[in-house]
Amino acid sequence: MKSIVIYFSLSGNTKNAAESIAKKTGSDIKPLNVNQAWPTNFDDLAALAQKQRDTDTHPEISSEINLDNYDKIYLGYPTWYEQPPMVINSFFDKFNVSNKTIVPFSTSGSSTFEITVPYVQRMIKDKNIKLEKGFRANSEDEITNGLK
Ligand SMILES: Cc1cc2nc3c(=O)[nH]c(=O)nc-3n(C[C@H](O)[C@H](O)[C@H](O)COP(=O)(O)O)c2cc1C
Repeated sequence: MKSIVIYFSLSGNTKNAAESIAKKTGSDIKPLNVNQAWPTNFDDLAALAQKQRDTDTHPEISSEINLDNYDKIYLGYPTWYEQPPMVINSFFDKFNVSNKTIVPFSTSGSSTFEITVPYVQRMIKDKNIKLEKGFRANSEDEITNGLK
């Protein structure tokens, strides 16, 4: 069985980390795209991100990814307001990943990775998904250590 890196990234940091993880682990890689345009202006983006969080909005994912042949998924996201963006909820809505292993990773300005974990745990609650510890992927050192 194979592994795949699936990531959401707006300004490229998580994309860079995802590419590095894919290379280091020999995984395939796919982005999570959504059916909406994200504001390029930070204030508008911040307002939208908070609105999605506060209204429990799960933005619709346009990416079609066949996960049948994968048993391990490295799932990457930027940290937004100390939690994963709401699109990560959409990921678990759209894709049946039961019986697979999820290894979460995030990039952030300064927040720890661990602060995001309870949100992911809540998303997969009552689903038969194995959640590995995961790691922050702000640098090659963090990626190398996280993959150990
Ligand atoms: C709406 C928004 C909220 C953010 N909230 C946090 C935060 O709570 N803590 C933090 O350390 N960084 C925060 N950041 C910074 C991002 O986590 C960081 O720049 C990340 O690497 C961006 O990933 P990307 O380039 O893949 O989109 C936030 C950025 C945005 C746009």
